[in-house]
Amino acid sequence: MKRAAITAIGHYLPDYILTNAELEKLVDTNDAWIQERTGITERRIMKNGATSDMAIGAVNELLARRGIKADEIDMLICATVTPDRTFPATANIICAAIGATNAWGFDVEAACSGFLYSLVVASKFIETGTHKKIVVVGADKMSSIIDYTDRNTCILFGDGAGALLLEPNEDGLGIMDASLHSDGSGVKHLHMVAGGSLKPASIETVTNREHYVYQEGKYVFKFAVTKMADVCADVMARNNLQSEDIAFLVPHQANKRIIDACGERMGVPAEKVMINIHRYGNTTGGTIPLCLWDWKDQLKKGDNLILAAVGGGFTWGAVFVKWGMCGDLASFKKSVG
Ligand code: UT7
Repeated sequence: MKRAAITAIGHYLPDYILTNAELEKLVDTNDAWIQERTGITERRIMKNGATSDMAIGAVNELLARRGIKADEIDMLICATVTPDRTFPATANIICAAIGATNAWGFDVEAACSGFLYSLVVASKFIETGTHKKIVVVGADKMSSIIDYTDRNTCILFGDGAGALLLEPNEDGLGIMDASLHSDGSGVKHLHMVAGGSLKPASIETVTNREHYVYQEGKYVFKFAVTKMADVCADVMARNNLQSEDIAFLVPHQANKRIIDACGERMGVPAEKVMINIHRYGNTTGGTIPLCLWDWKDQLKKGDNLILAAVGGGFTWGAVFVKWGMCGDLASFKKSVG
C-alpha cells in the first residue's frame, strides 16, 4: 500500500528571544508563575517580516536537506492562523518566493491542530498517487495577534515555523492513521473578536483591543487535557499499540501540564515525550514540526510516533506516523558518515 512518508524536514526560528524577565516588565507576572503554570521560560519573536518569511526559511532548508529544487514540489499546504493577509493564501506567497512554479497550494486554518489537519490532507494526495512531493509547513507569527498588555495570553505564545516533505513509500513508512475532530461550539472560549466578516476592523475595534487572541484559559485547559489524551488513546487502541510500542509522543506545545497529563494517560515515560515549550512557547502551527526538528537526530527509521494537538475551534486530533527520513540528504549523509 502506498503511504505518505516524511522524507525531509526544515525549520525557522527568529533570533529575538523574549524572556520571562522581559515579560515581567510588560505585565503583572513573574518567572516562577509562568514556569510553574506553563513550563515556558522563553519564546522567539519575529521583529521584522511576516509569517511567510519564516515559512520560506523552513521550506528552503527542507529543500536543501533533501537536495531537490523548488520546482519539483507538486503541492504546498500552509497551516497558519496568522496569514500574511486575509487573502490571498500565504501558501501562494511562499510558492512564488521559493520558485515552486509547478505547485498549487492553500492555507489550512485549524488553529493549533492546523499542522495535523494539513498533514492528513496532504497524505491523501500522496496515497492516491496523483502527487509525488508535497510540502506541509506550519508557521505562525503569534506576536502579530497577541496583546502584550494581557497577562493571560502574552506569556504563552511565540513565533516560529517548521516544514515536512511527504513522498510516496511502499515499505510501510509514513502516515499510518489519524483521528481528527472539531466542535465549533468551542469558539466562544478561544478566538479573535474582530477583524473577520463578523466584525470588520474599525476604529472602535482597534480602540477596544479586539484584534488579539482572546482565551478563557482554564476552560481551554480542561478541554485540552481530556481531549488530547482521549484521542491519543483512541489512535493507539485501533492500531493495537501499547505504550512500549511508542518511540515518541509528539504533542502540540500549549502547556507542559497538558503534555505531561497526556503522556501519563498513554503510559509513555517522560523521556519519550517531546517537549520544547520552555524554549519556544506555543507557536501554534509550528509546534509539532519544531519538535520533530529538535529530535530528528534521535529518531530511527520505523519509529512509531503519535502526533497530537488540541486548539481553537475547538479542533483536535492525533496522527500515527512510522518515521522514515530515508530521503533526507543531510540525515542520510550523517548516518553513513
Ligand atoms: O494552544 C491552544 C490551546 N491553548 C491551551 O491549551 C492553553 C490552555 N490554558 C492554559 O494553559 C492555562 O489555563 C493558563 C496557563 C492560560 C493559565 O493557567 P491556570 O492555571 O489555568 O491559571 P488561571 O487562569 O486559573 O489563573 C490562576 C491565577 C489567577 O489569580 P487568582 O484569581 O487565583 O488570584 C490569575 O489571575 O493566576 C493568575 N494569573 C497570573 N498570575 C501571574 C493569570 N495569568 C497570570 C500570569 N502571571 N501571567
